[in-house]
Amino acid sequence: MEGIKIEKIFLLFQIFCIISNRGGNSYAVIESVNESRKFPDKFLFGTSTSAYQIEGGWNEDGKGLSIWDTFTHEHPEKIADRSNADVGPDSYHRFDDDLKIIKELGSDFYRFSISWPRVMPTGDISSLNKAGLKYYDDVINKLLENNIEPMVTMFHYDLPQKLTDIGGFTNPLFLKYFENYAELLYIHFGDRVKYWITFNEPFDYCHPGYGEATYPPLIESDGIANYLCLDHTIKAHAMAYRLYRMKYYEKYGKIGKVGITISSRFYFSKSNDESIVDRGMQFMLGWLAHPIYSKAGGYPEVLIEEIGRNSLGEGRAWSRLPTMSEDWKNLIRGSADFLGLNYYTSRYIEYVESPKGKSPSLERDARINATVDPQWKRAKSTWLYSVPRGLTGLLGFIKDQYSNVEVMITENGFSDDGQLNDDDRIQYIKDHLNAILDAIDQGCNVTAYTVWSLIDNFEWVYGYTERFGLYYVNMSSPNKERIAKKSAKFYTDVIKSHSVSSNL
Ligand code: NOJ
Repeated sequence: MEGIKIEKIFLLFQIFCIISNRGGNSYAVIESVNESRKFPDKFLFGTSTSAYQIEGGWNEDGKGLSIWDTFTHEHPEKIADRSNADVGPDSYHRFDDDLKIIKELGSDFYRFSISWPRVMPTGDISSLNKAGLKYYDDVINKLLENNIEPMVTMFHYDLPQKLTDIGGFTNPLFLKYFENYAELLYIHFGDRVKYWITFNEPFDYCHPGYGEATYPPLIESDGIANYLCLDHTIKAHAMAYRLYRMKYYEKYGKIGKVGITISSRFYFSKSNDESIVDRGMQFMLGWLAHPIYSKAGGYPEVLIEEIGRNSLGEGRAWSRLPTMSEDWKNLIRGSADFLGLNYYTSRYIEYVESPKGKSPSLERDARINATVDPQWKRAKSTWLYSVPRGLTGLLGFIKDQYSNVEVMITENGFSDDGQLNDDDRIQYIKDHLNAILDAIDQGCNVTAYTVWSLIDNFEWVYGYTERFGLYYVNMSSPNKERIAKKSAKFYTDVIKSHSVSSNL
């Protein structure tokens, strides 16, 4: 009797949650319930970092300069606390400390990135730096000796300065440089690395780096160079993927997987116009995901139409959105074994008839206005509001649009001042884990979750003013001790129990 009553209340609660889901999109969202919920047996848990943000050793053992070295040195005024990551958490010298805590957490895998200029100081194979390779050899070997799977990101913002000097991502030769770099990594580490991510968050280096000029290489060419940067990224990704499948997949036992990591928010409609959700999503996730993961391939229609029309209206001879030939479309379509997803936050959106942004610009092309719900909990980062149901919505969107491709969540996390009692981070992670379970219940093919970040680190233009780590690092202490925050204990329990419970 009692059981039936509880079930009824639970059902009513679910219905209430679905009805009260503002924005009314078609992806049912069930808020967390007060009991432990199990993840599928094969579901993997990990943590993530990136080379420039944690390594330090910026000029050691033959490493070349990356654009983040030059940018932070030449423009300290552009970093919130005028800092840089010359030393940072110093993982170049302290990987053993990182390993200790990765083990302590009980993680299945560790996602880290390789610094291109550490292994190829000029970006070119002629400059091969053996000491750089040795550093990553040690990292990979030590992880494997401890049963932790390495997940390697090839590019996480730190482009060799020498490649930027010849145009960086806007130079068509970039494609070959990247393929060549990827091949070095496959040859050298492919016998041990099963998970490869070609690029991390292309949106987040192309727009600020080549559109708005807030990240290096400080190119202000919104609507043009940022679109070219994305185009070359997608093509370079596909070339690196095809290369792996052709030469290395079989050689290394047919178990390796290559994907790309895309960051995306989910959009809810501010009015009752549901078509705006699709438009917003195509201008974000779809820009990169449609060419790679959709059945049709190529850029989303709405981008081709809007950017083409605007370009002609500006008196141009061709569209600012590069044309994707049939050959490229075919090479790119299907060029990934999984979708790496970085999810942090969401927005409400509405259509804007006359956008105010500069012409040309992404803002003008997309014509959407994004707002937040004042009820959403905000992190230290001004852009980061906790919207777990956005993650369920996003995973539903991916399932529907991209044939339920395997999704590995490669980043999710919350920033604060670095306090050890980080209940807000625990709540955030817990809510997002529940959102993933909701998506899995709805048939989404999610196989992994990764917390950003293992340790506090250099948060790009925000320096050390925003902390994302499960472990605190005092950047001015000589030994850079990694000190567990309360969330580290929470995450350890999640990994161990393979479930998320309601108890903090
Ligand atoms: C995504 C980026 O990949 C990472 O480098 C950054 O620190 C986090 N988001 C937090 O902003």
